[in-house]
Amino acid sequence: MKRRQFLIQSSLAAMTAIAYHQLPSQSSPIYKQYKSYKSWKSNNSFLQGINAPVFKEVDITNLKISGHIPQELQGMYVRNGPNPMFKPSSYNYPLEGDGMLHGVYFNNGEVSYKNRWITTSGLVYEMFEGQELDELKFKNYANTNVIGYGDKLLALYEIGLPYEIDKNLDTIGEWNFQGQLEQSMTAHPKLDPKTGELHFYRYSFFNAPYLHYYIADQNNTIIRETAIDIPRPVMFHDMVLTENYAIFFDCPLVFNLEQAKANKKPFLWQPEQGTTIILVDRHDSNKKPIYIKTDPFWVWHFMNGFEENEKIVIDFVHYPEINMESHWQAILSNKSNLQRMSIDLKTHAIVSEKLDDHYVDFPTINNEKLGQAYRFGYAPHIDTEILSKKQIPNYFPSLIQYDLAKNNHKIHQFKPGCYGGEAAFIPSGNGQSELDGYVVTFVYNENTQTSDFVIIDPNNFQSEPIATIHLPVRVPSGFHGNWIAG
Ligand SMILES: [Fe+2]
Repeated sequence: MKRRQFLIQSSLAAMTAIAYHQLPSQSSPIYKQYKSYKSWKSNNSFLQGINAPVFKEVDITNLKISGHIPQELQGMYVRNGPNPMFKPSSYNYPLEGDGMLHGVYFNNGEVSYKNRWITTSGLVYEMFEGQELDELKFKNYANTNVIGYGDKLLALYEIGLPYEIDKNLDTIGEWNFQGQLEQSMTAHPKLDPKTGELHFYRYSFFNAPYLHYYIADQNNTIIRETAIDIPRPVMFHDMVLTENYAIFFDCPLVFNLEQAKANKKPFLWQPEQGTTIILVDRHDSNKKPIYIKTDPFWVWHFMNGFEENEKIVIDFVHYPEINMESHWQAILSNKSNLQRMSIDLKTHAIVSEKLDDHYVDFPTINNEKLGQAYRFGYAPHIDTEILSKKQIPNYFPSLIQYDLAKNNHKIHQFKPGCYGGEAAFIPSGNGQSELDGYVVTFVYNENTQTSDFVIIDPNNFQSEPIATIHLPVRVPSGFHGNWIAG
């Protein structure tokens, strides 16, 4: 173990591992340059079809484009997701899988693509050993989200520190805010578009207080840390930010050490404990949080939250309960709809209403409206018929645009055999309205085993994309991504 500890801390180990596992290149005209790693197959449905990992890191320039790339698009879209390098002996989706970044770069109408594994210290360790290692089953996979914040590009995993990445998607290393942050950071921080502050949290399984809320300024410095008392360690995947509050939903998905030790899902659903909404004053750290008890439910992701007429309004993807087992039937049994919760700030009364019947998740908005009254949101549709037929999750045949003012929606249907994922909204540089910009996502084509990157006009959401960028490679399903301007 001493030898391993030495190696993992040594940058020489990283260089050796990467060099050692680089196989001889195969000649192919589509790749400017690439590295190929040893491939494998699995009968786990989260590692098949659209979810199957890729084993090449590629750089492809001058991509073929249908339609017209808007001239103002200058920058990169980057998305994170699990892509295990070594065949896992067991696979706990969505907690496991080495993070891989997929970047689409826009430069004066020319588009290029590259993908890179995030070389976390755990992955480097395994690369050196040439296999998955049991003792690293709960490593920091850095596989969930990737954000631009201050002058940093950070790959995030909620039970580990952020990994700093450069614009070429090469891993720089763990980032802990110059020693200010211990242990971990959520994968879903909120960047306030008005102040440039980053609001986030970390949660602990072992030491009370189990929840800590942070604010960092635009210069990558933490300016506040507040411990929040909760009665037991639970999973928090996302948070809400409004003008005056940071809001946490303490749902009854409870950490269980015995399960973790037995290499099983470390969380148990305990609905008898209900859900507690926690309102934390974001401006005054001396004010005690407000705790409001309500019925049990689960949420992975919030669409947005805002304050209006002495009320807090929160839109989120509501699950009546959550089955965390790693098989497609469990995903099928989890019914998730967009829901609006209104919390009266005087009486603390809660009113909830279902906004739509479609099963969805991965909601996104024009982030210039984060924390403010807004009208439009986006979410890929979970089609249970397709899920039952394929017995493989993460095939999203369409993208929904919600108009929350008119309480209706529009659907962007992908072509037969084509499936999208989470959408990102790229605001137009001179935008006047919430719809001025572009909705983008990767689209996997199962007929060609390649992926496209599509740019959809939010004002003509049901129409053909204004541009489709054709990749000669496949981009597997993933989690979350963001647009990095410039
Ligand atoms: Fe997430």
